[in-house]
Amino acid sequence: MRILITGANGLVGRVLLEKMAATSQWEIFATSRGEHRVSHFNYHYFSADLTNESDIDSLIRAVQPHVLVHSAAITQVDVCELQREQALRTNVEAVHRLVRMLQPYRTHFIYLSTDFVFDGQKGMYTETDIPNPINFYGFTKAEAEKIVENSGLPFNVVRTVLVYGILPNMSRQNILTWIIHNLEARKPIRVVNDQWRTPTYVEDLANGLKLLARLRPVGYFNLAGSEYLTPYQFALRVAEIFDLDSSLISPTYAHEFKETGTRPFKTGLKINKAQEILGYQPTPLNESLICLRDWYRAHRV
Ligand SMILES: NC(=O)c1ccc[n+]([C@@H]2O[C@H](COP(=O)([O-])OP(=O)(O)OC[C@H]3O[C@@H](n4cnc5c(N)ncnc54)[C@H](OP(=O)(O)O)[C@@H]3O)[C@@H](O)[C@H]2O)c1
Repeated sequence: MRILITGANGLVGRVLLEKMAATSQWEIFATSRGEHRVSHFNYHYFSADLTNESDIDSLIRAVQPHVLVHSAAITQVDVCELQREQALRTNVEAVHRLVRMLQPYRTHFIYLSTDFVFDGQKGMYTETDIPNPINFYGFTKAEAEKIVENSGLPFNVVRTVLVYGILPNMSRQNILTWIIHNLEARKPIRVVNDQWRTPTYVEDLANGLKLLARLRPVGYFNLAGSEYLTPYQFALRVAEIFDLDSSLISPTYAHEFKETGTRPFKTGLKINKAQEILGYQPTPLNESLICLRDWYRAHRV
C-alpha cells in the first residue's frame, strides 16, 4: 500500500512520517515545499509547492497513493488573516486540486483540520457539531473540510487541538517549545487564562492517524488530548515537570491584548468516537511531558 504524507517538514508530518516508515508493509512517500529536513528514514521524498497545480499533478501521477494524509497548510492564524489570498490558495484550492487528481485512484483522503473551525462558545465539541469559524484560518479549514467530505472519495476529516512536541531542527515553535525556551532564558511570559483547550501530544495524534490509515473507517474523527485546561494552566504544568521557574509565568486574558486573528474562547474536542472505533488512547498530560522532558534532557535541541 502506498501512503503519501503532505506537510512532511511540519511538526505533525515529521512525527507521522517516522511512525509510518517504521511499518514495513507500507511504501511511504512524503512531500513538503522545502528541502527535506530529515533524510535517514525509509521513504521517498518530493519537494512540491501545493499552490502550484502542476506540482500537485506530477506528484499524484508519480505516487498514485492508496492513502493520502494531508497535513500541509498555512497554520499560523495571524498569517492567514493578513495573507488571505495565499491562505486560500494553500488551505483551500490545493485541497480542491488534490481531490480532483485523486479521483482515478479512489484514494482514502485523511484531512488534518482544527478546533478553530468552531466559534468557541460551547467547548468540548463532538464530530457532529457545526463549524462556525471566527477567523480566516478557521474559515479556510472549514471550507476544505467540505471539499473533502463532498469529494466522493473515502475520507476522514480529523480535527485536533494545540499540538505540542519537541523535535530537532524545528521549523517553528509550538506552545511547549515557546514556554521552555522563554523560561530557560529567564524571560517572563504572559499566557492566556480564559481560553480552554485539550492540548494534543504529537505522538498521540500520529498514532491516531496511523490507526485511521490502517482501519480506514469513513467520516469525522476528533484526535486530541484528554485534559481540558487553559494555556496558562498548561504552562504551569510544563514549568513543574521541566523544573523551570513558574514565577516567570503570569496569566493574561483575551480582552487585555490585541491579536490580528480572533481566537475562540472554549474549544476542546471530545474523543469518545476515536476511543471506541479506533482504540485511540491519548497519553495523560503529565506522562507526555515527562517523556518529552527526558528526551529533551538527553538531546538538548
Ligand atoms: N499545530 C497545531 O497546533 C494544530 C492544531 C490544529 C490543527 N492543526 C493542523 O494540523 C496540520 C499540521 O500542522 P503542523 O503543526 O504540523 O503545521 P506546520 O508545522 O506549520 O507545518 C505545515 C507544513 O505545511 C507545509 N506547507 C505550507 N505551505 C505549503 C505549500 N504551499 N506547499 C507545500 N507544503 C506547504 C510546510 O512545508 P515547508 O516547511 O517545507 O514549507 C510545513 O511542512 C495542519 O493542517 C494544521 O491546520 C495543527
